[in-house]
Amino acid sequence: MDVLVIGSGGREYALVWKIAQSPMVGKVYCAPGNAGIAQQAECIAISTQDFDGLVQFTRDKQIGLVIVGPEDPLAHGIVDRFHEEGLMVFGPRAAAAQLESSKSFAKRLMMKYGIPTGAYAEFSDAEEAIAYVKDRGAPVVVKADGLAAGKGVTVARDVNAAVNAICQAMLDRAFGEAGSRIIIEEYLEGEEASILAFTDGRTVVPMATSQDHKPVFDGDEGPNTGGMGAYSPAPVVTPEWCAEIQRTILQPTVDAMASEGAPYAGVLYAGLMMTVNGPKVIEFNCRFGDPETQVVLPRMKSDIIPVFVACTNGSLDQIQIEWTQDACVTVVMASGGYPGPYQKGKPIEGLDDAQREGAAMVFHAGTAWDNGRVVTNGGRVLNVTACGETIPKAIDAAYAAVRCIHFEDAHYRNDIGSKALKHLGL
Ligand code: AMP
Ligand code: GLY
Repeated sequence: MDVLVIGSGGREYALVWKIAQSPMVGKVYCAPGNAGIAQQAECIAISTQDFDGLVQFTRDKQIGLVIVGPEDPLAHGIVDRFHEEGLMVFGPRAAAAQLESSKSFAKRLMMKYGIPTGAYAEFSDAEEAIAYVKDRGAPVVVKADGLAAGKGVTVARDVNAAVNAICQAMLDRAFGEAGSRIIIEEYLEGEEASILAFTDGRTVVPMATSQDHKPVFDGDEGPNTGGMGAYSPAPVVTPEWCAEIQRTILQPTVDAMASEGAPYAGVLYAGLMMTVNGPKVIEFNCRFGDPETQVVLPRMKSDIIPVFVACTNGSLDQIQIEWTQDACVTVVMASGGYPGPYQKGKPIEGLDDAQREGAAMVFHAGTAWDNGRVVTNGGRVLNVTACGETIPKAIDAAYAAVRCIHFEDAHYRNDIGSKALKHLGL
């Protein structure tokens, strides 16, 4: 069958790369894709918001399976639309994608069904929110309710910072409509990890564990980004905790969505805090993580296509997924200035050297072609990814590849994976 992947980042590159390895797959298309994806798949210039165009293309090319990468089209009902057209699509419907697109929806669901998460309160009035934080004190976490491209969360160390965050979201509308309602949440202490799981709405099959690095600078300093690197497995998540996460978080959430009449099929991504009282949910995402996907899929031994198909037709209980024992690390090379303003169009050198002899893979995240050269075209530019027998070996291989690549003002973290080393006593 031919497959269409919707999206244009490093996550979609990794999806295209994995899908293309399936013997069941003929041609792979990506809309809109990027310069690197164009070397693996046929990229087509249709935006992720252009549902009519995407449906038409899927029909014209008789595409057998559509995979949706980013959250925006999911929240806007792309899966509902493809279902109405009788087309096979992987991802949750809009009602189910509310787990990510409305933080208050997710919180209410977790409270109702006893799924472990921090205590919280919800506000649509700034005065009331300010009175609440003054009464409750800090630290607290202030979150815009809606989708804010990863920018709507403030971890406030003191009451002033919380008040500023409330004003920014609710009065200045820094995140537009997403901030008309906010939630204020208990600060959870611990180490974070990401668990992505496949589900068909009934059965839940977790993927290998991983850990993202959201702050821009080494040592988790500086503002949050979309993610500056990741590694898998995440040793902070012990096998015992994996079982507990499945039992207390993943399965109950999928069951709860079914009970609420919004069955959830696709990838359920749980962003977790490993607290002294066990794993608790920080947030749900309704899609593959970026950059977690770039380290999880290289470790997946099984063909991914039967898994996608089983998630769309309710037969995931028939599927076993195998993982390699290897570790995988990805380092994000970003444009100078990111996550603030940055320039585009900088020529990138050394891509072939970095991938010589298959020691590393460079998943493009934000690149374009310009007169036969690959140039930067986004904040997160490249995901330089390597596997190894151990995490230290994967780290070394990834950074050896990073050192081969050059573009003006490139920056990256030098400590991706270092938290894993601590757990391993290295
Ligand atoms: P989110 O966009 O919800 O993933 O939040 C961004 C980051 O803020 C998370 O990766 C955490 O580092 C931090 N964060 C969010 N909620 C909490 C919380 N309740 N306690 C501690 N840190 C949090
Ligand atoms: N890695 C964070 C995210 O995908 O939202």
